[in-house]
Amino acid sequence: MASAKTHSTGEEMTGQDDESRTAMMTEGTPRESSSGSTTRDVWIDGSFVDQSEARISVFDHGLLYGDGCFEGIRIYNGRIFKLRSHLERLYASAESIRLAPSYDIDTLEQVTREAVERNGLSDGYIRVVLTRGVGTLGLHPFKCERSSAIVIADTITLYPDSMYTEGMSVIVAKRPRIPVDCLDPRIKSLNYLNNILAKIEAIDAGVLEAIMLNTEGLVAECTGDNIFVIKDGVISTPDTAAGMLHGITREYVMETVAPALGYSIEERPHRIEEVKAADEIFLTGTAAEIIGVSSIDRDQVGGGKVGPITAAMAAEFTRRVREEAAPED
Ligand SMILES: Cc1ncc(COP(=O)(O)O)c(C=O)c1O
Repeated sequence: MASAKTHSTGEEMTGQDDESRTAMMTEGTPRESSSGSTTRDVWIDGSFVDQSEARISVFDHGLLYGDGCFEGIRIYNGRIFKLRSHLERLYASAESIRLAPSYDIDTLEQVTREAVERNGLSDGYIRVVLTRGVGTLGLHPFKCERSSAIVIADTITLYPDSMYTEGMSVIVAKRPRIPVDCLDPRIKSLNYLNNILAKIEAIDAGVLEAIMLNTEGLVAECTGDNIFVIKDGVISTPDTAAGMLHGITREYVMETVAPALGYSIEERPHRIEEVKAADEIFLTGTAAEIIGVSSIDRDQVGGGKVGPITAAMAAEFTRRVREEAAPED
């Protein structure tokens, strides 16, 4: 997967200078500020504005309490990969937290397409956010009169290309994944602190991703990716009962990519010892796509390189989303 990726997610923002983004507007193409950096049109609550003008109240409970939900979505060759699935997951997250979106799913789909077009993006990343809206300083979510919706379309840079060819090192986080009974990880909420604290463990250890166990010690997922394990030619992945985000890339890999290569994938519980003894490990996520793991806690996985099945899966994924028309369902 040594494609020329330029991404920026919530995790690895490109760090453009907001102050310098003075609009010189040409619809349908990215605009440049006076310093040459790209400035985007962001959709917020019904209109497109320059990103420097896209503001949310300090009284919004999305900011005050992480009360809201979001999606990260990829654009490949102008097609929005699994757009409908992402929006359905967004609306399911909203329903789980009893947040009433102010726009219906079809409107948000149309706005998302428009955001891609207006910003002249053929490859990139979209962030769709629903916040609880403006309320009082108390927790009460239903005192917030109207939820807000935001659509940002930009480019993205997550991991360096070398990690896709050499494999990435990960650790096992000491901090467990939040239990399903406390806050179901299926809800892609604005409250990512559980993942962020595990990510900080990874960064402190000099790597960029961490495997998270659930409170029973079973492997759940990574901070921003799902995990797959390969042993003796058999591919498996933790079952969703472990408590994880039901990844859209995970599902696409299980239902489309793996079968196309003649593999079926077992979903079952995994202990970390089994994962460490695997021949190959790969991670999946919208931003990461498919990436092989070369070591866990500094111990080599398999040969310490991206294994052959991982490479084949990544190549098949890339072919389907970049060379063919990426599915938008
Ligand atoms: C915690 C977590 N797990 C898994 C994933 C992968 O999910 P998807 O493939 O839908 O991007 C993500 C990315 O959004 C995530 O944040």
